[in-house]
Amino acid sequence: MKVAIGADHAGYALKGGIVDFIKSLGHEVEDFGTHSANSVDYPDFASLVCRHVLSGEADKGVLICGTGIGMSIAANKIPGIRCALVHDLFSAKATREHNDSNILAMGERVIGPGMAQEIVRVWLETEFSQGERHKARVSKVMALEESASLHP
Ligand code: RB5
Repeated sequence: MKVAIGADHAGYALKGGIVDFIKSLGHEVEDFGTHSANSVDYPDFASLVCRHVLSGEADKGVLICGTGIGMSIAANKIPGIRCALVHDLFSAKATREHNDSNILAMGERVIGPGMAQEIVRVWLETEFSQGERHKARVSKVMALEESASLHP
């Protein structure tokens, strides 16, 4: 699998370990930065990672900021993205099975590196359930992008 990853300055330290961890699982990683602790704006990195996933150059994406909230809000503004903000293992599994999330967001100021790695492992390993009710709900979620643009 090809995984795109990005972080702001508040997620930069956690990102380093996650990049190595994803590689240790046998996946390819493209790291879109940031590459230092200097202050940057999380939407810029959310955009880079999400567009890489939408173009098909990566299969999935991981975004990290201080809380994960800014990254998840920004990512979910981009049509085609289903970004899940996850800080526990149950949600990591459930969001793949039920929501077919294509982006994972986490907060460096919320969880430690050990939990973050396990979340990434579970999220990458879990397939969408393909259940009819979940497919129908995901389709309705994606249809909201249309209705939102028609009725701003
Ligand atoms: C940066 O200070 C912080 O606001 C950002 O990383 C993120 O937590 C925003 O949601």
